Amino acid sequence: MPPFNPDKDIPDLSGKVAFITGGTSGIGREIILFLASHNPAHIYFTGRNEEAGATVVAAAKAKGPNVEVTFIKCDLCSSRAKIRQAIAESFKSDRLDIFIANAGIMATPPGLTEEGFELQWGTNYLSHAVILQLLRPVLLRTAESGADVRHVQVTSHGHNYAPSGGIQFENLRKPDAVGEFARYGQSKLAQILYCKAMVKRYPQITSVAVHPGVGRTGLLKNAKQSLIKSFFSATSFLHKDAAELAYSPLWAATAPLPKLENGQYYEPVGKKAGPSKLAGDEALAEKLWEWTNNELKDVEALL
Ligand SMILES: NC(=O)c1ccc[n+]([C@@H]2O[C@H](COP(=O)([O-])OP(=O)(O)OC[C@H]3O[C@@H](n4cnc5c(N)ncnc54)[C@H](OP(=O)(O)O)[C@@H]3O)[C@@H](O)[C@H]2O)c1
Repeated sequence: MPPFNPDKDIPDLSGKVAFITGGTSGIGREIILFLASHNPAHIYFTGRNEEAGATVVAAAKAKGPNVEVTFIKCDLCSSRAKIRQAIAESFKSDRLDIFIANAGIMATPPGLTEEGFELQWGTNYLSHAVILQLLRPVLLRTAESGADVRHVQVTSHGHNYAPSGGIQFENLRKPDAVGEFARYGQSKLAQILYCKAMVKRYPQITSVAVHPGVGRTGLLKNAKQSLIKSFFSATSFLHKDAAELAYSPLWAATAPLPKLENGQYYEPVGKKAGPSKLAGDEALAEKLWEWTNNELKDVEALL
């Protein structure tokens, strides 16, 4: 496959609506800028940093003057009620073609979300499941209209560092039952398994998980520095800048449909990777889906 070239390979996105989490820096910011250059109707994105959000809105408008760009201030560690409120107040579209679950943290010190979940689990996995539950009706309606609807989870090769058993359901409310990288791996594994479970229920939505590659982005800011130093110096020969790290999710969101296999995990760019044993575990994917549905049964979708 020739190298991915976002300028040439992203098609015209006229009329399409996209929603990206974590668009204020790093990979998310670059995804927005590339998408904006290809004329979508509207890009929604989330983050906590309002100043950075405003800068990204301006940069995206410079790339695509006719594109509507909306920043949604939303802390993914806050309660599901607050996440719902933030999105309900701003998201007013009757269609959604591209959803990219990109926001994330890595190897952060122990902590809990407002609802008492381990911080990386809550931010990287569970908040995205909440948002997808909120937006599922609009995604399904868009697919029913005949549109090609994409759901992309920005996961990581780091899913291989998940703890034994993959997801320790009994420990998800403990801040540090396993180490920093194992907690990251667990949340990233869940993103891949969630796609597999989605495909079984909603095959009309193309759900894929992608590893973006490795590079020094804002992700390192809050990570445990001793771990990061050794990990990133060992992998420095692989480093890409944030723009290039965006290629993998951009490919998944916009490549012609026949190039994608629904429910797959891809490494950069567009390379179907044999899933790790845990990432290919259908029973674990089902267990995660049931756990998630039960946990989020009070989350009322946006109609
Ligand atoms: N960089 C890499 O080498 C690498 C490798 C593999 C996978 N990834 C994955 O790529 C994704 C993007 O990471 P990145 O490298 O671009 O890192 P980044 O520059 O730190 O960007 C992370 C984004 O997530 C948002 N975010 C983090 N915590 C949040 C919270 N509690 N509430 C709302 N938004 C939150 C941040 O927004 P605010 O600060 O505005 O809240 C920011 O926009 C992550 O899922 C990461 O796991 C990255």
